[in-house]
Amino acid sequence: MKIFCDDVLENLPMPTPELSLINNAKLKALAQPVQVIAVTGGKGGVGKTSVSVNLATALAARKRVVLLDGDLGLANADVFLGLSPRYTLAHVISGERTLDEVLIEAPQGFQVVPAASGAADLACMGAAEHLGLVRAFSSLAAQVEVLIIDTAAGIAHAVLQFAQAAQQVLVVICDEPASLTDGYALIKVLSRNHGVGRFRVLANRVRSPGAGRELFERFERVTTRFLDVVLEFAGEIPDDEYVQRSVREQRPVCDAYPASSAARAFKKLAEAADTWPVPPGPRGNIEFFVERLVQRGPAKLAVVP
Ligand SMILES: Nc1ncnc2c1ncn2[C@@H]1O[C@H](COP(=O)(O)OP(=O)(O)OP(=O)(O)O)[C@@H](O)[C@H]1O
Ligand SMILES: [Mg+2]
Repeated sequence: MKIFCDDVLENLPMPTPELSLINNAKLKALAQPVQVIAVTGGKGGVGKTSVSVNLATALAARKRVVLLDGDLGLANADVFLGLSPRYTLAHVISGERTLDEVLIEAPQGFQVVPAASGAADLACMGAAEHLGLVRAFSSLAAQVEVLIIDTAAGIAHAVLQFAQAAQQVLVVICDEPASLTDGYALIKVLSRNHGVGRFRVLANRVRSPGAGRELFERFERVTTRFLDVVLEFAGEIPDDEYVQRSVREQRPVCDAYPASSAARAFKKLAEAADTWPVPPGPRGNIEFFVERLVQRGPAKLAVVP
């Protein structure tokens, strides 16, 4: 007996006439490659939001960046940036506001889509909400080159959806047993049930230079022993008190303390991220991201004799 996942075919979104119209006309006109990076990690508090806001800050020097707060439960990217959003992604999805009304300009030179805090799981959206999301992101296509998604802790459905839809899944780990086991669990469910086979792993809160690569190698050995995935080392961010200080001051460390060791490491990460390939053709377009984002239903297991 062989068990495999057929969620890719099973979960294709139901086409609606409206969606087809948009797909055929407006979306294609706007099509341009967009790098979509989901920052995730399994465990709470490993530094996903710190990484997201600093990667956005460092990349904004060279690219048009939008940061999407994908933590639908405890949104806090806006807090890290000292912003006070009036509207969120929920207003866009429901059609009450346009994306332009919701987007906030961060002083660091990128735009933020505040989270649909407390909103229903993306999986529970109806066709109208799907359409709202497609419209929102397709209007974004013209003004974004890199979309960074700060995801919530854990393996809630929305986290998995953001990760499966992204071009790059950046898994943040730190040297704590719970971070490694939760990171492993996240990679396991994404690879087995959501067709994600490649991950970039960032070691955060590293205590000495080179310790991040050692941590990565330890993590990779265990992960690839049991799972059919490819892990790539994305780099290391030192444990740096300036990160905490900048969180209190509600400014990314890259902006507030650019000479700090963490800021320098984030800049290095941004330089590397700038070279990560965007899939060619339609797979690199934001429409592809949205289509994957709105795929419905939990992964299904098919039993084959
Ligand atoms: N490199 C670092 N050096 C020192 N402190 C750090 C570093 N990275 C993160 N922190 C601290 O850890 C705390 C948690 O970070 P952050 O909120 O970014 O984690 P998270 O993974 O987004 O958490 P959550 O799962 O709750 O969303 C922050 O207060 C921050 O100051
Ligand atoms: Mg966070």
